[in-house]
Amino acid sequence: MADHPVISAVKLALKNVKVPDGSALGDYAGLSDIILTPSAIAFAIAVEPGMEGAFGPVQVAATKAAEACSEGRKVLVSITSDRAPANAKGNGAMGGTKKSPNQATPVKGIKKIIAIASGKGGVGKSTCSVNLALSLKDLGLKVGVLDADLYGPSIPKLLGIEGKPAFRDDKLFKPFEAHGLKAMSIGPMLQGDQAVVWRGPMASSALRQLLRETDWGELDILIMDLPPGTGDIQISLCQSVEFSGVVVVSTPQDLALIDAKKAMDMFTRLNIPVLGMVENMSYFIAPDTGKRYDIFGHGGAKQTANQMGLEFLGEIPLHMSIRELSDAGTPICVDKPDSGEASSFAQIARKIAQNLDLI
Ligand SMILES: Nc1ncnc2c1ncn2[C@@H]1O[C@H](COP(=O)(O)OP(=O)(O)OP(=O)(O)O)[C@@H](O)[C@H]1O
Ligand SMILES: [Mg+2]
Repeated sequence: MADHPVISAVKLALKNVKVPDGSALGDYAGLSDIILTPSAIAFAIAVEPGMEGAFGPVQVAATKAAEACSEGRKVLVSITSDRAPANAKGNGAMGGTKKSPNQATPVKGIKKIIAIASGKGGVGKSTCSVNLALSLKDLGLKVGVLDADLYGPSIPKLLGIEGKPAFRDDKLFKPFEAHGLKAMSIGPMLQGDQAVVWRGPMASSALRQLLRETDWGELDILIMDLPPGTGDIQISLCQSVEFSGVVVVSTPQDLALIDAKKAMDMFTRLNIPVLGMVENMSYFIAPDTGKRYDIFGHGGAKQTANQMGLEFLGEIPLHMSIRELSDAGTPICVDKPDSGEASSFAQIARKIAQNLDLI
């Protein structure tokens, strides 16, 4: 199938951009496919580890060249180097790894960035990200949420966000505004299964750009909703973003807890403070009888946190309205702020804010 005319134009424009050895970027073997969406053009340039700096001007020139034929789309050019950084030792890619000092710089205007993570999928990270963000906002803080889950972005749905992000003349994204939060997600820019072609390093590089090229204004705290697991994306984000800490979400099930331990171990190795653990879907109160059921067991996360010497931040019950209101785009902390469930989120948010000296 012939390329879309914009992709052909970008490919042609990249023939005029030189890589450090003087040859054309358009012919360079490390140039990825060019991803085109209605609002963005994205591609990655894979370089040998240690060559990232030398390719800095190439990234700038490639961005300019692509912008000239982007027909108004946002251009995201990532530099990726696949191998673990030179100072990694033992335990695979992350053992003993330090954050690279030139990349893990604070983001202007944002006081604290925290990640919401889990080892296992579907435990409620996104639900917690949104409701904790709302509870932090209710403490009087300025709060943003960044959806870092390229493969299953759910923040737009949870916050009832529609449409594509706008960007300003200087090409910075304008974040969405919903329920008093600023929010950004790559979800609305991707179509169908496009995210699948974003390999780990490219995905994390695109996320860093999304973080840095959004006009967040002044924020007390930005919450990053991470994808599940302990893979490339998480490791590379942790090495390049100045996180003040991470909150690990788990259900009380053994399997989820084993994965949560793995995640906490990874963050500790990456020198990211674990702010504590949240037990989600902790227990179920039947709406008709008021009887409590510990569907997945109960208290496992608290026990695990204690064993690991970490703070247990609190538990959130399994409740129909949490799911229903999430699906409707009006999280429980917006729709039923006086409910017991909303107050569970509020208590955890207060601990996080205190932990980070924000209140
Ligand atoms: N406490 C809760 N009570 C009821 N339903 C919940 C609760 N927490 C999460 N859910 C529901 O469980 C599902 C998974 O939640 P969510 O998407 O937040 O998990 P996740 O960890 O972000 O998943 P993923 O790993 O796919 O990103 C959603 O349908 C959500 O509405
Ligand atoms: Mg999620």
